[in-house]
Amino acid sequence: MTKAYAQGFSSQHSEISISELPIHGQFPTWLRGTLIRNGPGQFEVGKTPIPHWFDGLAQLHRFSFGDGKVSYGNRFIRSNAYAKDNQTGKINYRGFAVDPCRTMFQKAFALFIEQEPANNTVVNITRLEDDFIAMTEFPLAVRFDPHTLETLGVLDYDEKVNAQLATAHPHYDFARRVGINHMTRIGRKMNYDLYALTSKKRTKLASVTVKSPSYMHSFSTTPRYIILADYSFKLKSLIQLAFGDKPFIQNFVWDDTEDSHFLVIDIERGKLVAEVPTDPFFCFHHINAYEADDNTLIVDLSAYDDAHLIDQLYVDALLQQDYPQVGEFRRYTVPLNGGRASYEVLSDESIELPRINYKPHNGRDYQFAYGASVQKGTSDFLNQIVKVDVKNRQTSVWYEEGCYPSEPVFVPAPNAQAEDDGVLLVVVLDSRAGNSFMLALDAQSMQELGRAIVPQHIPFGFHGSFFDI
Ligand code: CO
Repeated sequence: MTKAYAQGFSSQHSEISISELPIHGQFPTWLRGTLIRNGPGQFEVGKTPIPHWFDGLAQLHRFSFGDGKVSYGNRFIRSNAYAKDNQTGKINYRGFAVDPCRTMFQKAFALFIEQEPANNTVVNITRLEDDFIAMTEFPLAVRFDPHTLETLGVLDYDEKVNAQLATAHPHYDFARRVGINHMTRIGRKMNYDLYALTSKKRTKLASVTVKSPSYMHSFSTTPRYIILADYSFKLKSLIQLAFGDKPFIQNFVWDDTEDSHFLVIDIERGKLVAEVPTDPFFCFHHINAYEADDNTLIVDLSAYDDAHLIDQLYVDALLQQDYPQVGEFRRYTVPLNGGRASYEVLSDESIELPRINYKPHNGRDYQFAYGASVQKGTSDFLNQIVKVDVKNRQTSVWYEEGCYPSEPVFVPAPNAQAEDDGVLLVVVLDSRAGNSFMLALDAQSMQELGRAIVPQHIPFGFHGSFFDI
């Protein structure tokens, strides 16, 4: 049976720009700025399906708000993969879960030399000073014009970094006025490297040597620390990764005979200060973390018992199987003076693609997290938005039959006093109507304020941000 949400995994080839979308309800007149989102826009090349959600060809979406009006535009990133794949009708570059046939020579060099890496930067976007960049899980980024979404080329850093992986979830340190990202060096020596980022420069803050790196999609920061969750999902063999035929992610193996660890890195000292074991788990998204006292960190995550989810995110699996498992809202208490980390579950509802009121609360005590989620008792795709009050352990929900929301992005109201005074901006696929809309929810009440109707569907994407431009 065709899934109601199947359209979310179908390509959107039509690039449009609309100056004023039809609106039901009202968008707040104070809402001024632009939400830019990233995600796959194309799921096949010629007749060849792109197997994994994370490998679709990147398309940017822009919603601009002002005077209660909403405009929209979408545009593919003109990556080397977009150009060459569409020109040749086949997949040409190694991705997250796809590996085109390569010669032995190409394999030998692909890992160690930057031999025209794929720049299908499909996962997230951010701003570094005046540069708007799209990111994936490699250290490169692609610049784009935030108004037209035109691709401007690969971001030219002043120096190369010796790392093969990077997260697409850098943090911003408002006190130090730098971005912070985690990169992984794969080679004879394996390192987790932490970098401070400006638009031109990447400065190493710390380096942690590891025996075998795990696949890490995000991390958390507090004023003093960078916190990595080192899952029991490790690179099995460097030789296999370099020379084998398995796509990138299939070289990582779940091994629950080994503990997972929280690695705590002191930013000022540039040193690993604690390696705290806990029972094996996996997650894509950290939610937030803070220093409860000098010897205790709180780390909130959207967690899984194992890394099985990665297999569930192949497009075939998404379209044919039930989607039974979504992240559990876990709060880990991480002792810095010995002992194991343990967790409690903060919500009855699941949470994925989590967001918070970032600027005042990232790395600090907080009350509210928002995310996409699957309604309890269903095995549907992400079909509701949740707001979790972590202080009172209460969860409120927005749900509408046949609707499939994406990551909810919180935008604070001007001069907001309360942490949740603002709106949530959510792209929603309306499977009944066959198109998408931009939903504005009052973040305090979780009631709908308005929706702006897009005349076509927006494929399910990953992440985005709001900018005052
Ligand atoms: Co992500």
